[in-house]
Parts: sequence; C-alpha cells; structure tokens
Amino acid sequence: MTKAGDIIGVYIGDITTLSLDAVVNAANSSLLGGGGVDGAIHRAAGPGLLEACRPLAPCPPGEARLTSGFRLPARWVIHTVGPIWQGGGAGEPELLASCYRRSLDLAREAGAASIAFPAVSTGVYAYPRDLAAKVATLAVTDWLRERGPLFRRILLVAFDEAAAHTLETALKRARLQGEKAPSQVFSE
Ligand code: APR
Repeated sequence: MTKAGDIIGVYIGDITTLSLDAVVNAANSSLLGGGGVDGAIHRAAGPGLLEACRPLAPCPPGEARLTSGFRLPARWVIHTVGPIWQGGGAGEPELLASCYRRSLDLAREAGAASIAFPAVSTGVYAYPRDLAAKVATLAVTDWLRERGPLFRRILLVAFDEAAAHTLETALKRARLQGEKAPSQVFSE
C-alpha cells in the first residue's frame, strides 16, 4: 500500500523546469501574471498562457484554475490564489489549505498523476514560511488520507535550502500526525 510519505517529497529549485503533469502557480485574482513564481511561469510558458488565463479570471483566494502548460515542460498549470498574510486571524490558514486541496482536486479531475507546488503565499503575500509549511503539508497529507493515493508524486518546491528545511520539518510532523489514524486515537 502506497503511503502518503512515499508520494510527497521536497524539491529545491525552479518549479518551471519540472517535467511533471502539473505545476501550481502562485497567482493573483486577476490571473494576469506578476512577479515571483507567477512571473517565472508566465515567462517560461509564453504569451499563450496569459491568453488562456483571461477568461478564467477572477480567481478568488483559496480557489484554483487549470490551463495548459504551453511552452513549460509541465502539461498543465494550476493557478491558485493564496491569502495575503494579515496576522493569521483573517482566515488565512483555511484559505491557504484550500489552495492546496482545490489544486489537487483540479489536477486529479484532469488526470494528472504528478504535481508540484511552490510555497504559496510565502513571498509577496508575506505568509510566514513555517506556518505556511505546516498548513501545506497537513492539507496535502489529509487530502491523500481522505481520497487515497491518487497521485504518483507530489513535490513541495523550495526556492532555497532554508525553505527546504522548513518544508521537510513540517512534512515529518504532518506524517506523524497522519499516522495517528482516528482508530488509534480512539484506542489511546
Ligand atoms: N520556483 C519555485 N519557487 C519560486 C520561484 C520559482 N521559479 N520563484 C519564487 N519562488 C518562491 C518564493 O521564494 C516564495 O517562497 O515561491 C514562493 C511564493 O512567492 P511569490 O511568487 O511571491 O508568491 P506569493 O507570495 O503567493 O504572492 C503572489 O505575487 O507574483 C505575484 O502575481 C503574484 O500577486 C501575486 C503574488
């Protein structure tokens, strides 16, 4: 039986170079592009991506939209809009978790078996990396536990070593939390 731990991994590098079925873009509601991951993905995909995004906008925070990958090595791009950090009391964790869950939903509906996520909201949107990593890893492990091992590979992409360490630490905790399946918790 494939366990969530075998599916999810942390990758350090540029998400636009990954030859996976789907890569996730950290977009804004207009879907018109921007800096960071958004800028990198639009630059690498070419102008066709912007044209494909126009009719799909606006995309509310926590939601996701799927397009072709155009010139990217990835077949699809899933554009998700993360929450802007406002201190943690404005529903940011729930919206960020929704970004991961909705992106996984859309990817599965399209038939994707592999997907890579950037650290959504942790750049321009200023979500603290450690808090975002905890939300992201729990959202992905919970999704897999609820729906089964429906992906071959899920990569959490870090843009530097420090970010990778934060994700690895959060992933270890999420796996431990996931291993306390409800039946075990009740038996304790
Ligand atoms: N590959 C992987 N990760 C990347 C890349 C890349 N090519 N470029 C940046 N990152 C990392 C950043 O280091 C950060 O940790 O992605 C994370 C997300 O940062 P942003 O791209 O700034 O995204 P976000 O914080 O969600 O802000 C979204 O920024 O670019 C605009 O249009 C975008 O308005 C939207 C906002």
